[in-house]
Amino acid sequence: MRLSDRVVIVTGGARGIGRAYCLGVAAEGARVVVADVADPKPTVAEIEARGAQALAVACDVSREADTQRLATETLARFGRIDVLVNNAALYGTLKRRPFMEIPVEEWDRVMAVNLRGLFLCARAVFPAMRAQGNGKIVNIASSTFFKGVPDYIHYTTSKGGVVGFTRSLARELGPFGIRVNAIAPGFTLSGENEKNISEERKRANVEARMLKRAQMPEDLVGTLVFLASDDSDFMSGQTMLVDGGGSVH
Ligand SMILES: NC(=O)c1ccc[n+]([C@@H]2O[C@H](COP(=O)([O-])OP(=O)(O)OC[C@H]3O[C@@H](n4cnc5c(N)ncnc54)[C@H](O)[C@@H]3O)[C@@H](O)[C@H]2O)c1
Repeated sequence: MRLSDRVVIVTGGARGIGRAYCLGVAAEGARVVVADVADPKPTVAEIEARGAQALAVACDVSREADTQRLATETLARFGRIDVLVNNAALYGTLKRRPFMEIPVEEWDRVMAVNLRGLFLCARAVFPAMRAQGNGKIVNIASSTFFKGVPDYIHYTTSKGGVVGFTRSLARELGPFGIRVNAIAPGFTLSGENEKNISEERKRANVEARMLKRAQMPEDLVGTLVFLASDDSDFMSGQTMLVDGGGSVH
């Protein structure tokens, strides 16, 4: 087991890819904190049914008080924080539309969740990781940043920000033994997002890949476990594209 007894927080762990991350790290021995605005309890129940430990925390990552409580409740239950997976984002529920039609309020909300959320969660866990002398932060970017995808420019822009955030935070936290890396998934069938994309676009996504099939949440778990585990201890500031070879950088 590569994550035995590690305490791993997964934001946005109630559904979609986040849920797969939670189950994946639990299978490697981790104790998992599922943080989400949606009900995290079903994911916690699934983890416990498989014999692992988990904690549900209701948390809006764009609210500083919520992120501070996330760290406090994690420490109260498990006593340490080894890994933060900054996965929560406004994504699956976002409507695709030309940039002239995106309401300014929606732009602001996407930035608040997809970028401020990372900033606040990282600040919430930093004191514990600094005291431990180690930690791992894994941010979730997107292949859309590398491709330049139309019709949700706020989302694509926020994911470019995730890459910049990852590089800069990695420089700041390296001296504390804290590694900061990112995963950039390709278009993944994760539930909610399937409603917002045409069958034609889904097919085009597969066709553009080196590996010609649909991407599933489980395709991302191996990379997350790698970045959360000791196997990646000499890596920091990196963004790993996991998209079946749909884009290269
Ligand atoms: N599915 C894809 O094709 C794809 C591709 C590239 C990157 N990603 C990224 O992977 C991550 C997961 O994607 P997904 O497809 O599972 O997305 P999703 O929209 O299905 O799930 C996102 C999760 O985040 C939660 N969330 C939303 N706002 C929140 C907030 N303010 N505070 C806490 N939790 C909040 C939601 O409740 C949900 O559980 C996201 O960061 C997304 O941008 C997804």
